[in-house]
Amino acid sequence: MTSNIDYIDKIPNNVDLGRDRVLQRALEHWQPAYMGWWYDMGPTESHNYDVYLRTAISVDPDGWAVFDYVKMPQYRWGIFLVPPTGNREVNFGINKGQPAWQDVPGEYRSMLRRLIVTQGDTEPASVEQQRMLGMCAPSLYDLRNIYQVNVEEGRHLWAMVYLLHRYFGRDGREEAEALLERRSGDVDNPRILGAFNEPTPDWLAFYMFTFFTDRDGKFQLSSLAESGFDPLARTCRFMLTEEAHHMFVGETGVGRIVQRTAELMAQHKIDDPDHVRALGVIDLQTVQKYLNFHYSVTLDLFGGDISSNAASFYTTGLKGRYEETRIGDDHLLTDATYKVGTVKDGHVVDEDIPALNALNERLRDDYIGEVQAGVDRWNKTIEKTGIPFRLQLPHKGFHRQIGNFAGHHISPGGEVMSAEQWKAHRDEWMPSAADYTFVQAMMTGRVVVPGKFANWIAPPRRGIHTQPIDFEYVRFN
Ligand SMILES: [Fe+2]
Ligand SMILES: [Fe+2]
Repeated sequence: MTSNIDYIDKIPNNVDLGRDRVLQRALEHWQPAYMGWWYDMGPTESHNYDVYLRTAISVDPDGWAVFDYVKMPQYRWGIFLVPPTGNREVNFGINKGQPAWQDVPGEYRSMLRRLIVTQGDTEPASVEQQRMLGMCAPSLYDLRNIYQVNVEEGRHLWAMVYLLHRYFGRDGREEAEALLERRSGDVDNPRILGAFNEPTPDWLAFYMFTFFTDRDGKFQLSSLAESGFDPLARTCRFMLTEEAHHMFVGETGVGRIVQRTAELMAQHKIDDPDHVRALGVIDLQTVQKYLNFHYSVTLDLFGGDISSNAASFYTTGLKGRYEETRIGDDHLLTDATYKVGTVKDGHVVDEDIPALNALNERLRDDYIGEVQAGVDRWNKTIEKTGIPFRLQLPHKGFHRQIGNFAGHHISPGGEVMSAEQWKAHRDEWMPSAADYTFVQAMMTGRVVVPGKFANWIAPPRRGIHTQPIDFEYVRFN
């Protein structure tokens, strides 16, 4: 295992693929199917564009990327794991202290396969959800960023497919094929998780998605990076380095939208959303509604608050907590408890439950902490303009479909309501059909002049890599 990546092979890799002929042939068989999927479901009309992309050349934490123009179908998708670290052990659960597994332990095979397939399914799903957005990009800079996110999600699919092919034999190969067959939002053959079947119809939704939902990806990958199954841990570690850019795109994207709106509000001394809209920018109330929607559907991705599956994944050593090895407890959790929210007699109350069953909730709480910090940064941007509006995370129980709050009607402030009451407020809290129409009407056609930005978004503070903001990030040919 080297940290540099071999680009001479048909499939770039740092796992000595050439030494395992059977595996290599299986993956070379899957590759054309993947390319077929990319041509069908990858970004629309993009196949001939030259895009200023980064490509991984090494898995070292620093200096792993080169930047150059690439046609996306020629992007070097491949298999990159961070190198093994000495005598790694299983660090939690009943197998704690055993050497980390280099092969799949037979008794955990189906659980492990399910974890890998569920993670793998989200990767192509987001590419499908975002495929039309290039047609209405607010700048070449943003267009390049969405394409970078898309090719890397494609690579994340490769990462999971490698594990399926390498460690799961025939059923792994079948799962790898099924990953190319499901389609986001398809009635008959949808993607596995709810948020990945929701449309991403406009750029505000895209930035919200990369801020909120790619960050769920970060937290899932982080807990899988703790796995006792070493190849999974090392795969996820490398994926995390790519994920950081996706969240950057989301946070700065929303940040630039609220900046532009708040600056115009201050300049024109207005706060009525209709007046704000009349200036061709997105009113902050609509940004708040998008936030409510994307936050709540992403919270559902963490799964039920009380989960025996999560307990099994942990106890067996397959999926840890966020930053497991930095936590100073027994890493068994047999006697620990954790607080989860639930609805009792018309109120949200906290309940202590065994910590092992609350691991989804704990990961969700870790996630919420990080999301709150991002929202605070957006609010700083608004504050600087002197506009008093502040964005807020809604209550954890707002608009939930999974877990203790599912079936209840909870306001953004945390009040338990009747279905009728909630419905009466729905369009104040979540984007209405009219809101989507308004936002989308603003985003017809794309801005293709280097250095120019759509009216509804501020330019970024700096360009990509060392390039200026008015660099020609995409050439259309
Ligand atoms: Fe990903
Ligand atoms: Fe991502």
